[in-house]
Amino acid sequence: MGLVSGACFAKFGNNVICVDIDKGKIEKINNSISPIYEDGLENLLLKYKDNIKATDDYSYAINNTEITFICVGTPSESDGGIDISYVKEVTIKIAEILKEKNDWHLVVVKSTVIPGTTRDIVLPLLEKHSGKNVGKDFGLAMNPEFLREGIAVEDFLRPDRIVIGTYSDKSKEILRGLYKNFSCPLFETSLSAAEMIKYASNCFLATKISFINEIGNFCKKLDIDSYEVADGMGLDNRIGRAFLDSGIGWGGSCFPKDLHALISWSKKEKEEAKIIESVIRVNDLQPLILIELLKKHIPNLNGKTIGLLGLAFKPDTDDIRESRAIPIIRKLLEDGAEIKAYDPKAMENFEKLYPQIEYCTSAEEVLNSDAVLIATKWEEFKKLDYKEKIVIDGRRLKEAEFAKIYEGVCW
Ligand code: UDX
Repeated sequence: MGLVSGACFAKFGNNVICVDIDKGKIEKINNSISPIYEDGLENLLLKYKDNIKATDDYSYAINNTEITFICVGTPSESDGGIDISYVKEVTIKIAEILKEKNDWHLVVVKSTVIPGTTRDIVLPLLEKHSGKNVGKDFGLAMNPEFLREGIAVEDFLRPDRIVIGTYSDKSKEILRGLYKNFSCPLFETSLSAAEMIKYASNCFLATKISFINEIGNFCKKLDIDSYEVADGMGLDNRIGRAFLDSGIGWGGSCFPKDLHALISWSKKEKEEAKIIESVIRVNDLQPLILIELLKKHIPNLNGKTIGLLGLAFKPDTDDIRESRAIPIIRKLLEDGAEIKAYDPKAMENFEKLYPQIEYCTSAEEVLNSDAVLIATKWEEFKKLDYKEKIVIDGRRLKEAEFAKIYEGVCW
């Protein structure tokens, strides 16, 4: 998120200095090599190399810029809450440099933090360690990101909206200037509302998916195509068609983390997250339906070879965090099945988690099994010949419908 934002800001003519503690990453960025895979990112690093520098020197970065975005990670803790120690750590570092800096500077929190964090934790830390006053001596804002993995550059450059929560008018003016090239609405609000908009958006999108999966499970019983139902529902402008693709549920680094974080916060506040907890419950059960459908055709999986197409949490990424393939594999192993798996990008990551399963060199090889499960909708899976196979599809791969036996999870 940090590097994508930096590279995109550079594209609009800003001079960007990226700060990281990882020397390897710094060197790569300074050589216009992207340390992560994101479509279009390396092109930007190369094309705007004169506008982008990376360093581990906070003082150099802050003294030579007007705005600092905090983009550090906020990883999950064991109780589902988030660890904001990196946010605190960099806030203190920024404050110590602001202490000596004469010019006005704007600090913007971009990391996903529980509502109230910027106002109640970042602001007091900045004032304490800089000895200065927010609003008067420096500015503070919260500007959440809504980037999807794999298409983060595109999402950054063509957002539906930009949300800025600000403390003072000057901060607002500066961010209006920074985002002046964007034609989408710039939604201005308070620091805490900006934080909540991020959480509420992700929780709502996950709710849409779990909702359509529940309806999809009903549809399956009634022999109704849940995709037709979603198409029909989606024509209502109040509902919209996006994020109504039923299947084996949502994974990734954001939805699971954000939903759990809000639940963890609500527990501490003695609030009950009734809807969000149900959204997770539906999502936890959804991948297991794939196995139930498989057992309709192969009741005893012990010693059977089951092919698994797709390990990444969604196509076009190697990210396996909270991938729905994980509970599927766990259950197949429990039932004594032999697993042959293939994913165009995520096998290396998956092997660290499950070294005991067989990783195939091609998708075709997976077809050499008693039945095939589809867990991620990769483009290349469309070209396979499923005719002779039993296929249980968790992602609505239309091309697999011609299999000898075909079952869709919600259709
Ligand atoms: C998400 C949000 O979309 C993004 O705005 C936020 O900033 C980060 O989290 P990401 O996790 O990259 O982005 O993936 P996304 O494309 O939203 O998909 C999330 C999961 O939902 C995937 O597992 C995907 O397969 C699943 N999904 C998505 C569905 O099952 N059905 C849908 O209709 C859409």
